[in-house]
Amino acid sequence: MNELDSPYIGQSQPQLGSAPARLLRWTGRFFYYACLVGLGVFGTYIILRGAGSTLSNFDQWHDLVAGLPIRSVSEWIANLGIGMHFVCGAVLVLAWPILLSSRIRARHRAVHRWTGRVYVTAGLLAGTGGLSFIFTRGAYVQSASIAFGIWGAVMMLSAAMAYVHARAKRFDLHRAWAIRLFAMVLGSWLFDLEIRAWKDLAGGIGFGKGDTSGPLDYAMLYLFFVPNLLVAEFFIRNKHRRLVQSGNAKWSAVVALAAVGLIFGYAIVAVTATHTGKYGKHLLQFISG
Ligand code: HEM
Repeated sequence: MNELDSPYIGQSQPQLGSAPARLLRWTGRFFYYACLVGLGVFGTYIILRGAGSTLSNFDQWHDLVAGLPIRSVSEWIANLGIGMHFVCGAVLVLAWPILLSSRIRARHRAVHRWTGRVYVTAGLLAGTGGLSFIFTRGAYVQSASIAFGIWGAVMMLSAAMAYVHARAKRFDLHRAWAIRLFAMVLGSWLFDLEIRAWKDLAGGIGFGKGDTSGPLDYAMLYLFFVPNLLVAEFFIRNKHRRLVQSGNAKWSAVVALAAVGLIFGYAIVAVTATHTGKYGKHLLQFISG
């Protein structure tokens, strides 16, 4: 079983007998499998779109893939950097289940070690590619360049620290940084899911119209990675504790997680499996030929 299969990440599985406790376990499973499928499809979308097999390739490296003349060093860096970013980003969203599997960690240590080396390298290169694009061309708005720059720095730090602590056999610290790294990788997907969910379910209140940015456009630049980091910290710091004790607290946790789960499930389907979805419009066209 995978660790993320449970709301008690990193602990031995408690004996959960009561109804809310069982529901909590099912909610944990739902989140795990939703990430498994959703991130798997996200990674497939990146590969297919980047390979030019869908409606349109990514704009960011248009000149390179279209074979147009690239006239400056900074444009070479931007195009090649973002290309490396797409390749390594796909590795990051596809390979995590191997690393988080406690079974593979225990029984196939070499697989865990080698996947870990590839993963850390992909984290550092995806961050380097993203940052090189930010420094040479800039993200779609300056505020996004700043937020993505911070996100990239945290992701690269997490990758480097996870590796350093694994080499030094400090496995508690290795685990903590690996969880932070996964939380940052999750952000790349949550960014699209949160925007879609807010537009559909809250009418997009706070988003700017046309080319203008509203307060939520700015907030969204941090809401896709800061909350994940806080949740990761909560799990890391409560490793040896039962997270919910009393019956009432368990029921509250079930209701809160079920509500988040419903929105999460809705957003995954809307983005991935509809013709108006950011990935869906590429993937459905690819499937229907
Ligand atoms: C961790 C996994 C990541 C994945 C899977 C990923 C994936 C992607 C994808 C698919 C795009 C194209 C988006 C689009 O045009 O719709 C993109 C763009 C971009 N990513 Fe990432 N990314 C990741 C992490 C990061 C990080 C940590 C940074 C920060 C350095 C970053 C910086 C950027 C930038 C600057 C762009 C271009 C944005 C623009 O054109 O305005 N990414 N990424």
